Amino acid sequence: MKGLILAGGAGTRLRPITNTSAKQLVPVANKPILFYGIEDMVAAGITEIGIIVGDTRDEIMEAAGDGSRWGIEITYIPQDAPLGLAHCVLIAQDVLGNDSFVMYLGDNMLQQGLTEFVERFRAAQDAGGADAPAAQILLAHVDDPRQFGVAEVNDAGEVVRLVEKPDDPPSDLALVGVYLFDRHIQEAVRAIEPSDRGELEITDAIQWLLDHGHRVVHDVLVGWWIDTGKKDPILASNRYILETIEPTNHGSVDDASTIEGRVVIEEGAKIIESRVRGPAIIGRNTRIERSYVGPFTSIAADCEVIDSEIDHSVVLERSRIAGIDGMADSLIGRDVEVSRSGQRPGALRLMLGDHSKIDLE
Ligand code: G1P
Repeated sequence: MKGLILAGGAGTRLRPITNTSAKQLVPVANKPILFYGIEDMVAAGITEIGIIVGDTRDEIMEAAGDGSRWGIEITYIPQDAPLGLAHCVLIAQDVLGNDSFVMYLGDNMLQQGLTEFVERFRAAQDAGGADAPAAQILLAHVDDPRQFGVAEVNDAGEVVRLVEKPDDPPSDLALVGVYLFDRHIQEAVRAIEPSDRGELEITDAIQWLLDHGHRVVHDVLVGWWIDTGKKDPILASNRYILETIEPTNHGSVDDASTIEGRVVIEEGAKIIESRVRGPAIIGRNTRIERSYVGPFTSIAADCEVIDSEIDHSVVLERSRIAGIDGMADSLIGRDVEVSRSGQRPGALRLMLGDHSKIDLE
């Protein structure tokens, strides 16, 4: 079994956090989102992973490297234009060969690991003979299925139809961004035509399998699932992951500071005359001075939080927050400065990148 992670190409049409950064590298609890997918695959025993990359390929390749840190082999597959998830399978053919594989959308995060999902497919394939499933999909009940691929499941629990982003959904069961396929999907992705949005849809490829007499089995997701491409889901996944951390202190905390609850303080971080209330993570070489850091906050490496109060937020590397009270529910990018200059006339002086959003009291 091999792995295929989509971290660009098709993924890049989804909104990036900034123009130049790969959103799959936005850290959740100070670890890039993409790494959660890779590590789930590694835990399920997958050692060869292809990663589809697009405009942000350099950044992704630099972050994940050749895979040796996980004891696996990563091959990068460039996709020049976002031509769809099924197109990713098409261009990954050389890497995948005739093997079965897990396909994982690199901006999705799941609470449940992949191990049981993969084991079930392996077992069904071994036992199935001619009746072995060609695909196994993961479904979740959602409030608004129109934003997703949607599955219709009959009374016997069999998947009978799949539609991509239907106006009139046949059920509330959405396709989660994790799929298992055997070699038959290669035939399917070559046979289908682009959809109205001009993409080869993986949903249509799975429907093709059904139409050609193949079995498609499914699991219903247990626990949370997040498509992290937007601000609020990132804060939510940060919250879920911080719920699971164990407190450690590899930095320094002075006598005038208090640490409450589960707080991870990474190497070289300094907490000075401050209060940190967990769950929270303070990144490497970050300085927190005369400040309050509240629950569900992840501050990445090399940041400064000075004379400020921040809570339920994610701050990326090298950013500086000074003299700000009551920052909450915020996602702050890399190399950002939020401060008070005291200059007259009193005004908001902003330099905001694409897709920024400011919510004033
Ligand atoms: C894609 C799939 C869709 C699936 C979703 C899960 O949607 O096309 O079927 O439900 O991922 O995140 P997209 O992100 O391309 O809009």
